[in-house]
Amino acid sequence: MSLKTKTSDLKKRMQEAVQGGGSQAIEKQKAGGKLTARERILSLLDKESFHEYDLFVEHAGRDFEMDKKYLPGDGVITGTGTIQGHPVCIYAQDFTVAGGSLGYMHAKKIAKIMDHAMKLKVPIIGINDSGGARIQEGVNSLAGYGEIFFRNTQASGYIPQISVILGPCAGGAVYSPALTDFVFVVDKISKMFITGPEVIKTVIGEEISMEDLGGAKVHASITGNAHFYAESEQMCFEQIKELVSYIPWNNTKTADPYPPKNPRSRTYKINEIFPTNPKQPYDVRNIIMAICDDSKFFEVQERWAANIVIGFARMNGQTVGFVANQPLVLAGVLDVDSSDKAARFIRFCDAFNIPLVTLVDLPGYLPGIDQEHAGVIRHGAKVLYAYSEATVPKATVILRKAYGGGYIAMCSNHLRADFVFAWPTAEIAVMGPEGAANIIFRKEITTAENPEEMRKLKIKEYKDKFANPYVAAAYGYVDAVIEPADTRKFVLHALEISKNKDVKNPVKKHGIPPF
Ligand code: HXC
Repeated sequence: MSLKTKTSDLKKRMQEAVQGGGSQAIEKQKAGGKLTARERILSLLDKESFHEYDLFVEHAGRDFEMDKKYLPGDGVITGTGTIQGHPVCIYAQDFTVAGGSLGYMHAKKIAKIMDHAMKLKVPIIGINDSGGARIQEGVNSLAGYGEIFFRNTQASGYIPQISVILGPCAGGAVYSPALTDFVFVVDKISKMFITGPEVIKTVIGEEISMEDLGGAKVHASITGNAHFYAESEQMCFEQIKELVSYIPWNNTKTADPYPPKNPRSRTYKINEIFPTNPKQPYDVRNIIMAICDDSKFFEVQERWAANIVIGFARMNGQTVGFVANQPLVLAGVLDVDSSDKAARFIRFCDAFNIPLVTLVDLPGYLPGIDQEHAGVIRHGAKVLYAYSEATVPKATVILRKAYGGGYIAMCSNHLRADFVFAWPTAEIAVMGPEGAANIIFRKEITTAENPEEMRKLKIKEYKDKFANPYVAAAYGYVDAVIEPADTRKFVLHALEISKNKDVKNPVKKHGIPPF
């Protein structure tokens, strides 16, 4: 056969393979408002950057007449490419081919591209759209999942891992996304659950729709399994592109620098955002935007555990991770979910050399039977662990309340913040003045001629003594009491001067965080 004939044979084979499950299955996919796997990859990656591998892999199923079936690419597309010039490894399950179900060779393709990502030290992106373990292949499909979970764990903290849920992701399949760093979901398209509505109905008699059980909104706002929620696939791809611009390729690099920009100070003025009444809530995201470059803040897990705000921004062109109590929601308390949310983000930033800036305004951990029984002790400890373990530059600004365990947990000097700044409005104390006065002056108050007058007097006495930053500053726990308008200046300097920070934790196999 001549070169020309062989080349046209190759082209024919390729054309056949890229058809996926064929026109009928593609029509069904489109009718569900979904793009095909190939379209997804091409929409996400830079134009003409995608290079596909293992297109001619064939499935290994031999039972249930599977040996008579042709499954193009075995239902998954794998390859490499770039996103805004950043190299990535990627795979997308093709639901049009046997429901994107995961058989032995399908799993091998995913494992292979994950191995590549680790060897090349670039992020791995997995687009999930699958009916789960390929039932006809039995234990080989289970083995395939095991191989993927193992690699997810090996890659954790080594290269960034991104999961995109663009269809069903059911049964044990959910544990790959759960092991990755960021999970993206799309309204009415993503469906994630361990056991579906049918099984739930049969086993425990509860009835629920797929959407209400494991739809995008559920995972973005109730379970916290998702980090980013989008209205459409295109919007989701834009979010992924933005995320990739903030994070480094691997754990030996820092994120790409961008041209430094001042905040939009006409829109974001700290003295207008921050209320004079200490009891009035405010949106801490506006404070972040008053501090960071171009007032651009890329929030993570915006819809879940909103009493804490986490996300990426840039300071002088370099990525930083912001962690801030949100006084607008539950007064910014730490509870079970907000502790989990903050701790995981802190550990991601630390693993990938992203400095942390913490803004503090909280009355402490949330009291209550529900929280105690839900394990606020164990979950709350994760924040202490994550901050203590983090060796990246850490700058903390105490804006208002920093009471009790909340003061310590929010990257205090004692957990090795490099710099702690406090505004003159900061109140650093064991507890709020009202509660404190009721306990330590109980006798004086109850025996007074006018207990109410006495209570007010004692609250004022406590406030004058402790509800300020100067006691902590006198012990050196606060490095500088600063004017709010100078916050950017102080934080920028702190980060700049910490660039060569080189702190190592004690040598050990690994710590044992309170997972
Ligand atoms: C083999 C599968 C499949 C599977 C779907 N298909 N899931 N083939 N193994 N797990 C095939 C269908 O037979 C069908 O083939 C094609 O994919 C499209 O599926 P439909 O059912 O027609 O699509 P739709 O109506 O959109 O429904 C999608 C679905 C449903 C909700 C995902 O297919 C479904 O319930 N699938 C099974 C889900 C499941 O129970 N998976 C196993 C979970 S256990 P044809 O040839 O007709 O086009 C698990 C264990 C993992 O994953 C443990 C890891 C630790």
